[in-house]
Amino acid sequence: MSANPIDTVSTLRNTLAVMQTLPSDEARAMPAEFYTSEEFLNLEKDHVLRRDWMCIGHVGEVSNPGDFYTTEMLDEQLLVTRDTDGTIRVLSNVCRHRGNRVAEGSGNSRRFVCQYHTWSYDNTGALLSAPLIKNTPSFDKSKCALPEFASEIWNGWIFVNLDGQAKPLTPRLSGLQNIVNNYHPEERFLNFIEEDTWNCNWKCLFENFMEGYHLSTTHLETLHKITPTRLCKKMESGEGWTGYHAYYDPDYPPRGPFHKDLTEDEKINSPMYGIYPNLVVGMATNFTLFMCLRPNGVDKVNIRWGVTGLENDPDAQKVKDYIHLCKTFNAEDREKLEVLQVALKTRHFQGGPLAPDDYEGCIWDFIQYMAKHLATGPAE
Ligand code: FES
Ligand SMILES: [Fe+2]
Repeated sequence: MSANPIDTVSTLRNTLAVMQTLPSDEARAMPAEFYTSEEFLNLEKDHVLRRDWMCIGHVGEVSNPGDFYTTEMLDEQLLVTRDTDGTIRVLSNVCRHRGNRVAEGSGNSRRFVCQYHTWSYDNTGALLSAPLIKNTPSFDKSKCALPEFASEIWNGWIFVNLDGQAKPLTPRLSGLQNIVNNYHPEERFLNFIEEDTWNCNWKCLFENFMEGYHLSTTHLETLHKITPTRLCKKMESGEGWTGYHAYYDPDYPPRGPFHKDLTEDEKINSPMYGIYPNLVVGMATNFTLFMCLRPNGVDKVNIRWGVTGLENDPDAQKVKDYIHLCKTFNAEDREKLEVLQVALKTRHFQGGPLAPDDYEGCIWDFIQYMAKHLATGPAE
């Protein structure tokens, strides 16, 4: 493949177009530049990431009126609030005066004061005061609210659509809703949330989370004992998601307590699913692990990752044990993905064959999702 950036982008787009024509038993990985090209990332930002629903956190982070947290996504500063009426909003965290960031960190507040010249806003984004600014025809307070982004909540996760044009998210996840229904993710409490940064492309992390092929090798001492590769089964996937069922080794102790609605089959597997393009979820019978991915250049991904559980008791020992397990296998994944990112600087890797659907079928689904938006043709 040529090193010319324009050629690289068009070659990758052509490769995606070829991927659309292949049957799944000829599924292949993408070439190295898919994960290393700055120009291709720019195309992803414009045609996928700003256009689609991006997960930015969990309602448990703003459980009470006045709660807020700040984050960013693709250089947009975001302020997530639960207003006094209880509505969750995703506001632009950029002051309407001269563009400073308005709020920092997280907490509970009825008003936000920009620290530059102290314009202040309420938690719906309305401008409350602008010191010394005269009421003139060119200044109308009611027109200086913080802009609000389109947002949607699905089973407790907060999604934002930066360009405001995406079709509603929930209808396209109806098939997934049927699969996860009895686990009742919407009833689970946020037990833990943390920010992290891994030195890898965001897509490598999405793909890694969504394949069971590495469970028995990379996680030999951790997850292999619980959810070995040989027991993975591809899930029925749809327009908005892909997934697989990680069945539990019969020798591993039952992972209760179980929600009363779970069937016998549901008690013995964790649905692992990825909601395109940036939320990955491992939903065990007792806890849920999730990661919201925020691309930060081609070789860095910011991760907002958390754990939800059946009880609102973050200090319980079983919660601590589960978080410890997550941190242990996350470190195993991170080590592999950071080496992978270095190796992908090669100009010689063209992408090898993928393992059968049960093990790497979600990667193929993800490539098809990317192809739908970026293959030669649609993104012209
Ligand atoms: S930039 Fe916020 S008050 Fe001036
Ligand atoms: Fe892993």
